[in-house]
Formats: sequence, structure tokens, C-alpha cells
Amino acid sequence: MDKAIFISNAAQLITMANHTDQPAKKEAMSQLNLIENGSLLIEDGKIIEAGRDEDIRNKYKNRIQAADHLDASGKVVTPGLVDPHTHLVHAGTRENEYAMRLEGQSYMDIMNAGGGIHATTRATQQAGHEQLYAESRKRLDQFLIHGVTTVEAKSGYGLTLEHELKQLEVAHELQADHPVDIVSTFMGAHAIPMDEKDNPEPFVDRVIEEMIPVVAEKNLAEFNDVFCERGVFTPSQSRRILEAGKQYGLTPKIHADEIEPYEGSELAAEVGAISADHLLKASDKGIREMANADVVGVLLPGTAFFLMADFADARKMIDAGLAMALSTDANPGSSPTISLPFIMNLGCLKMGMTPEEVMTATTINAAHAIGRADEIGSLEPGKKGDLTIFDVPNHLTLSYKYGMNHVDTVVKDGHVRLAGGQLQ
Ligand code: NIG
Ligand code: FE
Repeated sequence: MDKAIFISNAAQLITMANHTDQPAKKEAMSQLNLIENGSLLIEDGKIIEAGRDEDIRNKYKNRIQAADHLDASGKVVTPGLVDPHTHLVHAGTRENEYAMRLEGQSYMDIMNAGGGIHATTRATQQAGHEQLYAESRKRLDQFLIHGVTTVEAKSGYGLTLEHELKQLEVAHELQADHPVDIVSTFMGAHAIPMDEKDNPEPFVDRVIEEMIPVVAEKNLAEFNDVFCERGVFTPSQSRRILEAGKQYGLTPKIHADEIEPYEGSELAAEVGAISADHLLKASDKGIREMANADVVGVLLPGTAFFLMADFADARKMIDAGLAMALSTDANPGSSPTISLPFIMNLGCLKMGMTPEEVMTATTINAAHAIGRADEIGSLEPGKKGDLTIFDVPNHLTLSYKYGMNHVDTVVKDGHVRLAGGQLQ
């Protein structure tokens, strides 16, 4: 049995309790279940209880005596942050394209000319397993340094069975080796290979007939994602790919309505996707249908920020009853950041969300977006002992003092993995 750990006296202990059965929607997104002067006890990697300091000390006197103590006075404790949409495993960077975009070229034009996702696909195909592992591991460290304890990670820079498997295997290995948990998504349908642009159907067939069955058989992914966008995969190709994944037990996710309205949101509702991501141009009808179908909307404002595009209208979507999560979309082209706290800042400053809503969107609702709400996303008995301690006196300061890293300590599965901002 691991040594117990007692975290005490937090100025604010944000438990996010009571949202495990259902993702938080509308007013529920403001309910943090915040305890002032809060403490919690973790034993054997799992939360025993979180509550008022006095109550927890009285109830667990002896067990607390045997535990390691971590004093959180003057600080804010939250559930470990959850990033529900990343392209963690890839090789190389694309700062050259950033410079081209600053001079006025568009993201899609660069991609259609063979750059963009194709550039990272070439780099990822050429990279050996070890290089891919090393580059991705560094990023995972950075996630931890910024308070994140679980990330979803997509394939999609392989575009052949061999190289898609290589990406998923690296993710699988990191899941075993690194404290941050990884939830894997197959995204063979991330781009149509350059030399098949004019005749994409055979590639769609390969995703369905060759890749999905093997990925499922090897148990390398839980979710199946498609980039449904004009010039990439059409709604009907996306539907075929997502339905095929369902036959093999892969739950649909979708990159929807990012650049143009393209009925990706409607498709998400139709196929029963667990989440629909991006949604900058989602139609009102699509938003309604997703809300009714309990799809979680995952917004990625780092992409709008970095591509200098209009932001998604989070306010409208929350008010329409869509459960909302936030993510970095960490990738080398449209959002090369791993800072989920910065994404929370953008949620407040650029998408009309409140500080409470962005907290919900990066904890319990993010956990729902990756099917993990029963294990993570809140500080409740039986859940994983995953938490982040921010060196701020209240959570409002997280979005007030923006663009800096306030993370002091990260506990993962009951172990201190970051202390004083240093990896342990
Ligand atoms: O989520 N939109 C498509 N895919 C990624 C970008 C990937 C890339 O540019 O490398 C995204 O934004
Ligand atoms: Fe993405």
C-alpha cells in the first residue's frame, strides 16, 4: 500500500463534486462545490474524502497521523486538469508555416500545397519510434508542469497502418512510463494523403477496412476521430468512418465545423459522438441537436488565437444547453501550446465564459469528453488522487494574472510529481 497523503488548509478547495453522473450544463457549469479552508486525504492513490479542514481532521485523526502532509494554505487546490483533445505524439515543428501565416497565407492553403498536416505526417513517418517517444515525452512533462494529469492523445500523422500504429504504440508506452495518464484516439482520417487528393475514396476504404480493425484488435484506442471539413473529409465519408469504428467498439469523436459550417455538429449528434471538437462555425441547429444528444462540445480557443480566426461562441452554446469542455488541441500547426491554463484565460477573455465555467470545462466536463468521469475530474471519494495546487489565493487570480504558470504542486495517483514547480 502506498503512503497516504494529507493535503490541508487550502484557501480554496475546488472539488467539482456532484457532476459525475452527467456533464455539467448551463447553470451547473458554475457549481464548483468550493470549500474554503479545505483538506483532503488520499490513500493508496485514491481519494478518501475532501471537506472542511476541521471535519476531515476530526474524522480521520489516526490515518492523518500516518500520512505525509502537504500544507496548501494560501493556495488553490483543484482536480488535476484534464486535456481532452491533443495531438501529443508527432515529430517536428512548423514555425516556418507560422511565419508564412504572419505574412498572410492561410492554414488551409498551406495544407493544400503539401504543408500543414502533410508536413508533420512526413516528419512523423520518417521518425523512428525512439525519436517520437522522446519528443512526445517532453511534451507530456510540460503538460504536468502546467497542472494537467490526464491527456487524450490522437494518432493521425501516420496515415498508413504502419505509421498510425507507431504513433499509438508510443502513446501506449508513455501511458505505462509517465505519470500523466493518456487516453488514446485513432485518427487515421486526419488528412487525405497528398497523392490521393483527387481520388480519396480508396483512402477512406483503407481507414475502414485496414486500419480500424487492426487498431481495435490491438486495443490501441478507445475513440475514433475524423477531421470533417471541406477539402478534407466530407460529412458522408466521416459518417462511414465513424460508423465503421462503432462496429469495432471505437466511440466516435469529430473535428467539426472548424473553418466552415459543414454539418459536422449535426453528424456528431447523429452518430452519438462522445464529443464534437472545435465548433467555431457550428450552426444553431447543430448546437441544438448536440445538446439533445448529450454530445460534449470541446472548444479549442488556442486554435482561433493562433490562426487569428474568430473564436467559437461558447456563451451561446452553454446557454443553449451544450455541455462544454476546453482543450489545448496541442499540435504543431494550429495550436503549438500545452498550456491548458492559458486556454482557460482565452475561454474567459475571448469566448464569454466565466472563471467558474472554464474550471468545470477543464476538469469534470473534460473527463466526460473522454469517458473518464467515473475516475477523474473531481475530488470525490474513490476517484484517483489527482490534483493540482496553484500558488494563488483564489481561482479568479488564475485568469486575472494571465500568461504565467501558477502551478506549484501536482499530485498524481497520490504521488507528488511536481513540487515548487519542479518535476519530481
Ligand atoms: O485540431 N484541424 C485539424 N487538425 C488539427 C491540426 C493539426 C495540424 O495542423 O497539424 C487541429 O487543429
Ligand atoms: Fe485537433
